[in-house]
Order: sequence, then C-alpha cells, then structure tokens
Amino acid sequence: MNILGIETSCDDTAAAVVADGQKILSNVISSQNEFHAKYGGIVPEIASRKHVELILYVIQAALDSAGVTYNEIDVIAATNRPGLVGSLLVGLSAAKSIAYCYQKPFIGVNHLLGHVYANFFEHPDLKLPHISLTVSGGHTLVMYITSPTQYEILGHTVDDAIGEAYDKVAKFLGLGYPGGPIIDNMAKDGNPEAIDFPSPLIHSKDLNFSFSGLKTAVIRYVTEQQRTGQSLNYADVVASFQRAAIKVLVKKVLEAAQEKQISTITLSGGVAANSALREILIQEARHNGVQVYYPPLILCTDNGAMIAGAAYHLYQQGVRSGLDLGAYASL
Ligand code: KG4
Ligand code: ZN
Repeated sequence: MNILGIETSCDDTAAAVVADGQKILSNVISSQNEFHAKYGGIVPEIASRKHVELILYVIQAALDSAGVTYNEIDVIAATNRPGLVGSLLVGLSAAKSIAYCYQKPFIGVNHLLGHVYANFFEHPDLKLPHISLTVSGGHTLVMYITSPTQYEILGHTVDDAIGEAYDKVAKFLGLGYPGGPIIDNMAKDGNPEAIDFPSPLIHSKDLNFSFSGLKTAVIRYVTEQQRTGQSLNYADVVASFQRAAIKVLVKKVLEAAQEKQISTITLSGGVAANSALREILIQEARHNGVQVYYPPLILCTDNGAMIAGAAYHLYQQGVRSGLDLGAYASL
C-alpha cells in the first residue's frame, strides 16, 4: 500500500511516498530557511506563501522520485494539527484536492504522531509502550507511547519550546537561523561548565519544562559582559546554554521512564538531531538500564515520510477523514 504523506505545518514544504508504513520510496523536503533567515525566525505569512508556491512541485518530485503516479497511490495523508494554520492549510488543501480528484481515501495526521513515528522506520519492532522525548521548534514533550497512533502527554513546556530557545539565543548572538544546528556545532569548541546558567524547573515535581528564563539568563549575561567590557567567548556561552537545557531534558525524561517502569526511550523532532543531547541522554540512560533510540537526521526534522508512516497505522485502524477536516494550531 502506497501512501503519499504531505507535511506543511511549519516552514518546510515536504512530501513523501511510503510503502506499507515502512519502506520510504521518496522523501522530498524543500527548506524555506533562506527566506526566514534574515528575520531570525519563522515569519508565518512568508511560510504559507512559500508553501503555496512550492507544494505542487514538491509533491510531483516525491511521486517522480518514488517512480509512481497518482493512480498508484492508495491513500493521501497530510498534517492537519498542530502548527501554523496558514501553513497547514496549504498541505491540507493540496491533499484533499488530490484525494477528491483521484477518489482516494484521505487522512489528516497529528504532527506529533508523525515525529514519534520517525523512529519506527529503522526500528519497526520498537518496544511498546515506551517514553518519547519530542523536542522541536514548536514542542517540548514527554509522552507515553502505547501504539504508533496513541500517546499520553506526561510533561510539556510552559513557555518556549526548546528549539525556539535555541533559535532565539542564536538570533540574539547574531549567529544565524535556524539556531539549533549552529549552536550544536559551535558548542563543540566551548566549555559547557564555563557559565552556570539555570536549568528552570529542574527540581519541580512534575515533568514540565520552561526555557524562557534560560534564554533571558543568556541574554542578560551577554549584555552585562558587553556593558562592562569583559571578555566574551561565544562558544562557552552556547555550550553552557546547551548544557543547562539538556540537563533538564535528560533528567525529566529519565524520571518519566522510571515512573512508568519503562526501559525504552525514543527521541524525535528537530532538536533530536542535537549531538550533545543524544550523547548525554544515551550515557545517562545506560546508567539507568534504559535504551535510547533516535531517527536518522533527515527524519528528525519535519518530513512527509513520518506523516505517511503514521497514516498507514491510522488507515489500518479504519480511520478516514472527511474533506471538511480543519487545520488546527493546537492539538
Ligand atoms: O521538527 P522541526 O523541523 O520543526 C518543528 O516542528 O518545529 O524542528 C525545527 C527545530 C528548530 O528550532 C531548529 O533550530 C532545531 O529544530 N534543530 C536543532 C538541531 N537541528 C535542528 N536544535 C539543536 N540541535 C540541532 N542539531
Ligand atoms: Zn515538527
């Protein structure tokens, strides 16, 4: 069964063809980074306009690269929540139009299920239930995953998402956009112990996160160093920022695993690409007898394959969406 998965929840225009929820026949992603870079963050209006320009080319490229035509697609799936509504609407409308024209079933997919699903491509026998740490530009979630289509949120950010904090710190330091990969690389040359930034909510009894205060602490520190003419090593700043952020992520996801007596954790979302997060989580988890899985880099950030993969399982459960399905900013 071939599923066309379309993903436009944020700033990547993406489409993929996946066979039987497992074999990725194509995975085309057109990044809009260059259009948002000068603003240091995503401009929703630009994102939706670029999606409109690109969507049909990206879908055609996904079909061509998979070597299939619309007639050889069995189901059309698209992300319908959560995300930027203007962006979501573009992929959703394209998917509905194709489903209507070719008389194919249509399924709206929750973006979070997609991110979690990215782990199942390389590890189809991934243990269930397991704990997921989903970290991206829009989300910071600890979830209890009971099947490829079911989850329970155990903890979430109360303000900025972790990826948002990376992007905002990078913007403030003038490093470029998106900030995550830039900070990830730069931090390798810095001393993570150089500055003692706070890890907000690290001692809270719940599994929630907060990154706004950490971002402000970085901005205050840099501003003060500059004001007093003291030395400022950007690599040390970003390495210390990253250490403070990762410390709380790792502590809480391991707490969740312990609470639920689970020995498998999956990482997903754009920030799952972070080398320090992977390294530290794997190391700490090993001490606790917990195994960590993460998707290949290309499947960490937004892509259509994860949407097609999750849609396969929804389809098997009998889920079908109507052509009146809406796009929603939140879950
Ligand atoms: O999942 P994604 O593509 O889109 C959302 O759903 O948000 O995630 C994008 C986010 C951005 O904030 C970006 O800075 C961050 O993921 N990111 C990283 C890395 N690569 C991407 N953050 C830290 N380290 C990375 N290597
Ligand atoms: Zn995402």
